[in-house]
Amino acid sequence: MAINHPSFGAIDANRVIVFDTTLRDGEQSPGFSMNLEEKLRMAEALAELGVDVMEAGFPIASQGDFDSVQSIAQRFAKDGPVVCGLSRSAPGDILRAAEAVKPAARQRIHTFLSTSDLHMRVKLRMSREDVLGAIAKSVALARNHVADVEWSAEDGSRTDPDFLCRCVETAIRAGATTINIPDTVGYALPEDMARIFSMLRERVPGAADVIFSAHNHDDLGLAVANTIASLNAGARQVEATINGIGERAGNASLEEVAMALRTRQDAIPYATGIVTQNILKTSRLLATITGFDVQPNKAIVGRNAFAHESGIHQDGMLKDSATYEIMTPESVGWSTSALVMGKHSGRAAFRDKLATLGYSLGDNQLNDAFKRFKDLADRKKSVYDEDIVALVDDEVGRAHDRVKLMALTVATGMGTRPTASLVLEVDGETCDAVAGGDGAVDATFNALQQVVPHRATLKLYAVQSVTGGTDAQARVTVRLEEDGKLVDGQGADTDTIVASARAYVHALNKLLAKRARTAPPEILQPAQAG
Ligand code: KIV
Ligand code: ZN
Repeated sequence: MAINHPSFGAIDANRVIVFDTTLRDGEQSPGFSMNLEEKLRMAEALAELGVDVMEAGFPIASQGDFDSVQSIAQRFAKDGPVVCGLSRSAPGDILRAAEAVKPAARQRIHTFLSTSDLHMRVKLRMSREDVLGAIAKSVALARNHVADVEWSAEDGSRTDPDFLCRCVETAIRAGATTINIPDTVGYALPEDMARIFSMLRERVPGAADVIFSAHNHDDLGLAVANTIASLNAGARQVEATINGIGERAGNASLEEVAMALRTRQDAIPYATGIVTQNILKTSRLLATITGFDVQPNKAIVGRNAFAHESGIHQDGMLKDSATYEIMTPESVGWSTSALVMGKHSGRAAFRDKLATLGYSLGDNQLNDAFKRFKDLADRKKSVYDEDIVALVDDEVGRAHDRVKLMALTVATGMGTRPTASLVLEVDGETCDAVAGGDGAVDATFNALQQVVPHRATLKLYAVQSVTGGTDAQARVTVRLEEDGKLVDGQGADTDTIVASARAYVHALNKLLAKRARTAPPEILQPAQAG
């Protein structure tokens, strides 16, 4: 039976709404925080991926969160996904969420309250009656501001079933249009989630007029299985994140749920609006922004997800790929690492290539990226799609950087102390430095410290190869910490030391931007050295 939904109109009974929470639950995981510009890039990619609802943040949590949700709402002021802001049940939270999502063409407020005895006693110190009262008030207040209101029973999977029914009934009566039952602590088994949704749909008055939603955490590695079981029991919204990021062990991975639905239509015949060919690109963008790659054997998006190593498997694949592949790599955006272009390729071809990879750059960014592409093609025999993606990700969003790496030379060898000489442009002024160190990377970072003195400490240094081969580009992630603030920087280059310097400079720029947001304007005084 079709439901008439305030944001989606008449929804077919087998249509599953994909609610992405990468920018909220995902961003809550340690080390995964993103700045405004990064969240906007991610939001753009999620819209292209075809998510129906985008939970853009938790507006009451901080001014930064509010600004991000509001900017994303402004970006989707004419069309695009429903933009959602999270709120607890307090009126101040709800009003802040309402204000943040207001510019969006389609807005949702997602309000939640704990319903398990444990949470109510220890965390909320509220009785069952208090909680029912708060649900009624919070949902009604949210409905005064938006037509599309989601209510969540935090720790729902560990809630007394009779009380859960009363909570859901209260939320529906107050005007909730989506009811979400999270497995907040990742404790449930698939049959538990199926039982809960079947019970609610059977027992709660008004259940037929709302969308039930699954939100599963992965503490026991069951988030995707629990999500599928919830769908089979009547849930029609899935809450998920790219690469499965999220609190603790993460949330259900969006790409895994989407591909399970696409691949197993025989058993789970539900439709989503996900453009599966964009999955890999979105996953890679998140990895680039956060500095965390997925593990090689990660389903769908891991480097080995479609690699066939054993002779028997390779033989089968050559005869018929269906022998060992249940979905094609192309269906999720893997290309067969097609050779892109060489050093003779022109600017127009480069722009076309970027368009097929999903990038549309302004003229200045295009010029910079093209210059770097030419430079790369001169040094690297074969330039692949992955190289272009790494290079462009390295370029986008850097136009306003205060510190720019202009030149770097490192002298190193067995038995000698490495020395790095570099030239930076700092607020338009050219500065140079020479420094030694315990290795080429250490010397480079010491030279950077001389030009831009700072107290930040290095928390993470990671190197990854973009493609295979000794001439492959290295993608380096650097994490710095200053006064409890963490920033990640990325850099790519065929020379690992240059990639490291780029990553460090990127992190420094983010640190400077962070400082500027929390302190009065500061003049950067580059220290001249060398
Ligand atoms: O896991 C959870 O319970 C949540 C709620 C805020 C929906 O993320
Ligand atoms: Zn959650």
